[in-house]
Amino acid sequence: MSGPSQTAAPAEDQVSGPTAWRVLRVPVPDSLDAPEAWGVHGTVRVGEAVDREIHGHTDLALDAATTLVSMTAQQEYKKTVRLVAVALGARGGEPDRTPAASDVVGRGMVGLPQKGNTHVAIVYAGVDPDHRGQGVGTALWEEGLRIAREAGRTVILSDSSHSPEPPAGPGALESPTGSGRVPLDDPGTRFALSRGFSLEQVMRHSAISLPPRQDVVARLREAARAAAADRYRVHLWQDTVPEDWIDEFAVLETRMSTDAPSGGLDLEEDPWDADRVRAASRSFADRGQGYLIAVAEHVATGRLAGFSMVSYPHDRPEVVVQEDTLVLREHRGHQLGMLVKIAVLDELARVRPSSRRIHTWNAQENRHMLAINEALGFEVASVDAEWQLRLA
Ligand SMILES: CC(C)(COP(=O)(O)OP(=O)(O)OC[C@H]1O[C@@H](n2cnc3c(N)ncnc32)[C@H](O)[C@@H]1OP(=O)(O)O)[C@@H](O)C(=O)NCCC(=O)NCCS
Repeated sequence: MSGPSQTAAPAEDQVSGPTAWRVLRVPVPDSLDAPEAWGVHGTVRVGEAVDREIHGHTDLALDAATTLVSMTAQQEYKKTVRLVAVALGARGGEPDRTPAASDVVGRGMVGLPQKGNTHVAIVYAGVDPDHRGQGVGTALWEEGLRIAREAGRTVILSDSSHSPEPPAGPGALESPTGSGRVPLDDPGTRFALSRGFSLEQVMRHSAISLPPRQDVVARLREAARAAAADRYRVHLWQDTVPEDWIDEFAVLETRMSTDAPSGGLDLEEDPWDADRVRAASRSFADRGQGYLIAVAEHVATGRLAGFSMVSYPHDRPEVVVQEDTLVLREHRGHQLGMLVKIAVLDELARVRPSSRRIHTWNAQENRHMLAINEALGFEVASVDAEWQLRLA
């Protein structure tokens, strides 16, 4: 889809303020050591600068392997186009010189779902804090929007992160769900609002320091096991979903797309099948990540009732990211959510003792999930605004 030196935006160089730049598609290099990998490394550089500014750390920033794999793997499920704004000014702007990662001043992304939600494009722009307010974000956004329109998409989704969540009052924009708010006086909020986005939902990002409090976990484990009794059995999977369970697991992933609260976001079912589970699994490995899944089997029927999954980048031994957790509606009310989350925590301590913190995201109105996380000791770290724009 994108060639190494393909220019994405009309090839007009943008000259404004101290930085002159050009928007390009990120070339897909053969390897991360290749000279063409400048766009991947530049994307990572800007992503880390943006995250450092918001979170004070880079635990969550895209790494190079993930950036590359996002453009090459699983494109039949979600096509991903990456953009960069490349500064020309510093070195005179020779058009044919291969840029360096340090020339990248902004990064953009367009995600185009290919199975469910084919009316949607996810468009994101992030700009190095040292190069803001000069139109770089706008240029990336406009190119992203052009690609989304060209793909026939009618709904654009985006997000922005904010820390801390502001107190209620005139400086805050309240989520229409009634739970959560984001600061009005923030460049991300202003950028989204001035481009016609509406806030549809606020996600809470929380983190827990590991190991968790053992007395707390022991009490919760005992209660969850008693509630599940011998009606449910937990299985643990590391870095693979066993073929015997793969169709069942695809059902859970599909239900994840409809059963987790999504506020006013115009999203429909995102269907998973066995091939997609396999592709997702390969993609974790390609990105240099491991994962753990705990599932609860309903013993009487032999069907899966729920699961919880975490992933972890091998090159950041302290960091763990909570992926999906779901209990099917018909199995709720038996503490299965707590059961599978604790099973993951216990297994993580065994197989990856270097883990020091888990990050998780939940809709602010998702009281049941938040209650489990709060009981375990997760604490609020930041909030994410979920933005939506309907194209005319
Ligand atoms: C939001 C973000 C991408 C904006 O990047 P940016 O390069 O500063 O964006 P721009 O310069 O194009 O626009 C920012 C403001 O500067 C103004 N501006 C645009 N061109 C300008 C210029 N030549 N000179 C001065 N100001 C200019 C714009 O009017 C804009 O104001 P608005 O937000 O009220 O519309 C950046 O703040 C960022 O990376 N934030 C963190 C990630 C994030 O939240 N992304 C948004 C997801 S929706």
